[in-house]
Amino acid sequence: MGGLILPPAYADDAASRPALDHPAYRSTALRHPSRPPIAVPQTLTELTGPLLGDGRVRPTDADLTTQHDGEPLGERIIVHGRVLEAGGRPVPDTLVELWQCNSGGRYRHDRDRHPAPLDPNFTGAGRCLTDAEGRYRFVTIKPGAYPWGNHPNAGRPAHIHFSLFGRAFTQRLITQMYFPGDPLFGQDPIFNAVRDPAARARMVCAFDLAATEPEWALAYRWDIVLRGPARTPGDEDAA
Ligand SMILES: [Fe+2]
Repeated sequence: MGGLILPPAYADDAASRPALDHPAYRSTALRHPSRPPIAVPQTLTELTGPLLGDGRVRPTDADLTTQHDGEPLGERIIVHGRVLEAGGRPVPDTLVELWQCNSGGRYRHDRDRHPAPLDPNFTGAGRCLTDAEGRYRFVTIKPGAYPWGNHPNAGRPAHIHFSLFGRAFTQRLITQMYFPGDPLFGQDPIFNAVRDPAARARMVCAFDLAATEPEWALAYRWDIVLRGPARTPGDEDAA
């Protein structure tokens, strides 16, 4: 095992981690594990994968507005930020993937059947690798809010799903980024499954005037902190 960098110990953070069974988020009643987790021995496969390889992630993968013949409808935005360790150390070469609905609030997915239009010029998925300073940057369309059947008249605040891979399969963070001042925050059980208000605030990006490109796109900044008191909450049990 010489030279192998093992993942650091994981410090649990119950205040920001959503409960696996969260009654207000109804589908967790059937989805959450009913038995304690089993520790699986970590072998070379778990500790050294995924091996993404240079060149597999292309620069164009980070622009969700140029994946089709025409431009998607909606408000073009830049979403950028840094992936950081506790203490502010940047995390380079991390795979950041995102997926989202279109500007009308509909996903390009067979199970999304609510009556909003699909956009033939928008798939809603992108990815990039963080640079040496831990930076990532996407160009996309601001996602719409959408209804869901959790409770009467339920609507999800606009959000973008994020997945981050570290050096190993066991190092993965899945979470959601929200937009400032969304009127649906108060009735969204997924957002509120993170119990600590300060931790919830860390899932909300900030409007970033300095990064806006005039006459072209507004910008939002969202730093993702993997560990420590400023950790970005994950949605281990959320869709
Ligand atoms: Fe979603």
